[in-house]
Amino acid sequence: MAIRQIRKIGDEVLTKRAREVDKFDDRLATLLDDMVETMRHADGIGLAAPQVGILKRAVVIDVGDGVIELVNPELVAAKGEQVDIEGCLSVPGKYGEVKRPQIVIVRAQDRHGKTFEVTGEGLLARALCHEIDHLDGKLFVDKVIRFVDPEEREND
Ligand code: NI
Repeated sequence: MAIRQIRKIGDEVLTKRAREVDKFDDRLATLLDDMVETMRHADGIGLAAPQVGILKRAVVIDVGDGVIELVNPELVAAKGEQVDIEGCLSVPGKYGEVKRPQIVIVRAQDRHGKTFEVTGEGLLARALCHEIDHLDGKLFVDKVIRFVDPEEREND
């Protein structure tokens, strides 16, 4: 495993649509392993492949309940809404309120190509939406209702 460099806002790789993964090989496994290590090292709760410069539809998330790896994730259902503060490893030092669904169902494949579904509520729903947005070249700053300063976030 290796820590990869996290691309920052302004890097055009973050604005592009990532391609579907069709090869479930060692290369994909290494990418996912590296993404998990990179996310942990950066103290993040989610990371999408474009953030390490790879335009593939692959995401890792850990909101505290263990790592979820999602390849070719697709939002299949969304219910309710929540407004909360969001940040991004590719947008250091910026935080803002973003509206997201309260509950989502996402269908994806695992690193071996097996299809599964995950239901996310609250923070997990937010992380799933945020990471899927990365695969479509979208950053949370495009959806922010109101930016907040980091201190306000810490008092949250
Ligand atoms: Ni992000």
